[in-house]
Amino acid sequence: MSEFMKQYGPWAMIAGGAQGIGEAYSRDVAAKGLNVVVLDNSQEALDSFKPEIEADYGVECLALRVDLARSDLLEVVTEAVGDREVGLLIYNAGLADVGPFYKKETGLEYEQMRIAINITGPLILSYHYAKPMLARRAGGIILMSSGAGLQGSPYYAHYSATKAYDIALAEALWGEFRPYNVDVLACVAGMTLSTAAKGYQHLDTSTFQTTTELVEEAMAALGKTSTLMAGESNRRNQEALNAMPREARIEIMGKHAIDNFLGGEAPEQNL
Ligand SMILES: NC(=O)c1ccc[n+]([C@@H]2O[C@H](COP(=O)([O-])OP(=O)(O)OC[C@H]3O[C@@H](n4cnc5c(N)ncnc54)[C@H](OP(=O)(O)O)[C@@H]3O)[C@@H](O)[C@H]2O)c1
Repeated sequence: MSEFMKQYGPWAMIAGGAQGIGEAYSRDVAAKGLNVVVLDNSQEALDSFKPEIEADYGVECLALRVDLARSDLLEVVTEAVGDREVGLLIYNAGLADVGPFYKKETGLEYEQMRIAINITGPLILSYHYAKPMLARRAGGIILMSSGAGLQGSPYYAHYSATKAYDIALAEALWGEFRPYNVDVLACVAGMTLSTAAKGYQHLDTSTFQTTTELVEEAMAALGKTSTLMAGESNRRNQEALNAMPREARIEIMGKHAIDNFLGGEAPEQNL
C-alpha cells in the first residue's frame, strides 16, 4: 500500500467536488488510488462525474447531491457515507460574490447561507470526520480559503470574513492535530480558472492558476506546511501587501474588487 493511501485512505470526501477546483481535487486523489465521496449540489455534474472517475481511475465514487447549506447536513452525509472510512476531508465549496455589503439582490438571509456554506459546513464535517482520524493517527484535512480572507476586503466583506475563519480554523487544527499525525492545510487561493468562477471572462487571466496547478500545489503542501498561498504571482503580491500598513492593504483589496468586478467605481450601499 502506498504511503499516500496509508495516510489518507481509503476514502476522501470532497465537499463541492464535482466541478472546478473541487473536481480537480477529486481527480487528483482518485488518481492516487483513493475512493471518493463527492458532495455537490449539481446533479448534472455528479451524473457525468461519477461514471467518469470510476472508469478513469478504477476507484469507487459515492456521489451525493446535497446542499451544503442545509441544517441537517451532518445527518444526511453520515447516513449516506455509512461506515466508509474517510481519511481525507477536502472542504472546497464556497459562496462568493462581489459588491457592497448591502446588496440590491440579496439580504441577511443570503449572508446567513454564506455562513452555513463557508463556516458551518467546514466546522461540522471537520468536527465529525477528524475525530476518527485522530484515533487512527492518520488522516488529512484541507480547507479552501481565499486571499480575501487574509485581511478585511471591501466589497467582498462577508466572504472575506468567512474565509478568514477557514484559515484560522485550519491553522489552529494544524497545530493541534500534528501530534496525532493528522495533516491540516489552509489553502489560500488567488484567482483561479474554475468553472464555478464565471465572472472572469473580461479579465486578463494570464497570471491566474488553473484548477490543476492549484490542486497540485495544495496536495504537495499537505503534511508539509500549515498554510499555502497558492500561485507564484499570488505569493509575490501577498508579500508586497504584507509589507504595507493594514489600512493600505484593505484599500488595495477594495480597489481590486472595484477595478476587476465593479466597473471601476465604488458601488453605493443599497439602503
Ligand atoms: N475560483 C477562484 O478564483 C477562487 C479564488 C479564491 C478562493 N477560491 C475558493 O476556492 C473554493 C472553490 O471555489 P470555486 O468558486 O472555484 O468553486 P469550484 O471548485 O469551481 O466549484 C465548487 C463546487 O461546489 C459546488 N457547490 C457550491 N455551493 C454548494 C452548496 N451549497 N452545496 C453543495 N455544493 C455546492 C458547486 O456547484 P454549483 O456550481 O452547482 O453551485 C461546484 O460544483 C471556494 O472555497 C472559494 O472560496 C476560489
